[in-house]
Amino acid sequence: MRNSTNEEEAEERLKYTDDNIKELLGRFGAVYFPSDVKDSIEDIIGNEVQKELLEDFFKGLKKYDDIKEQLKKANLIPNLTILLYGPPGTGKTTLTRAFAKEYKIPVCIVESNRLISPLLGDTIKSITRVVELAADIASERGAFILFFDEIDAVGSERSNIHEVGEIKRAVISFLQVIDRINYEGYPLAIIGATNHQHLLDSAIWRRFTFHLSFEFPDYRIRKVIIELFIQKVKKTKIGVDESIQLKLNDEFKKIEAIENDLEKKLGHRISEFDGDLFWKEVEKNDKIDGLLKITHGYTGSDIQRGIEVALFKIMHTEILTYEILYVSLKLVGGTASHVETQDILSSSRQGSNKKQGQGPPEI
Ligand SMILES: Nc1ncnc2c1ncn2[C@@H]1O[C@H](COP(=O)(O)OP(=O)(O)OP(=O)(O)O)[C@@H](O)[C@H]1O
Ligand SMILES: [Mg+2]
Repeated sequence: MRNSTNEEEAEERLKYTDDNIKELLGRFGAVYFPSDVKDSIEDIIGNEVQKELLEDFFKGLKKYDDIKEQLKKANLIPNLTILLYGPPGTGKTTLTRAFAKEYKIPVCIVESNRLISPLLGDTIKSITRVVELAADIASERGAFILFFDEIDAVGSERSNIHEVGEIKRAVISFLQVIDRINYEGYPLAIIGATNHQHLLDSAIWRRFTFHLSFEFPDYRIRKVIIELFIQKVKKTKIGVDESIQLKLNDEFKKIEAIENDLEKKLGHRISEFDGDLFWKEVEKNDKIDGLLKITHGYTGSDIQRGIEVALFKIMHTEILTYEILYVSLKLVGGTASHVETQDILSSSRQGSNKKQGQGPPEI
């Protein structure tokens, strides 16, 4: 006689067990079930507009099967697609995984490069296979997410496909399979991420209903990110010098006051990414050279690397001091100094002039 628990019986009835899914999709990327995910939404500081839209999206995805029939009658089936774009290390993948955990939906992070093969036929087969498989899993599980990391690999000259005609055909097969999945109404969310939005084929860009831009964090957000990582260090045996927080607060207040004065003088809001006006004013008023100033153009990921470098440096002393943190952050350097100017400008302009997460970049 079989001695299985109810849970095991339920699992047997499923066509796709967790292990099955990991095995089947594993050749395209990594599959995460909610229990595999450690990230939480609060770990990504800022990005409030992005979080709000993701919240709506995930709520809709959760209820998708219920609302689908009603929407079908009105011929209004929402397209479950989001494109996340912006510099590397700004939290696109982490936030997606965190939302997937929060809403208890499994996610497969597809490495788009793995879909591309020197043989066009194989590329098309892989693209179709991964989407159809995920759609099938989604209908059995109630919801599933396919996250195409570096989606520009499928649809741009950066891809491993060298013939322009072949890129077009790979893009077309990608678009066709997405259109079909949407039309048939599977509870499958397709999320794409790219650092190269300007290279992305415009037909792919248009297929995504939501476009969310992720930007370099401004000094207010960087302060909270630094504090978040300091809190993490405090949870270990390593001590944290109190002067870090005091100096951080002091620098913050000075920059904020200078910003307020400048805005009054100019009569409009200003961003620290609008040319060098902001930092020139800071220099002029006060010789500020603190953590917030040196991390201008840093992403959350750069700050994390800076903290990690500092931890290596203090192995012997076991106390994180302001000086060590300063030197370490300076040492790692910011992503803005590596990415193309066009990307920084478009990203920072959106931060200062436009409401975040709205409107496509020029392509
Ligand atoms: N706004 C933020 N607040 C706190 N931590 C952040 C923030 N942005 C990034 N990080 C840190 O950087 C790490 C890396 O971010 P993540 O991999 O999600 O970036 P990404 O945008 O997906 O980058 P890529 O485009 O290279 O794939 C996160 O796990 C987090 O620790
Ligand atoms: Mg990523």
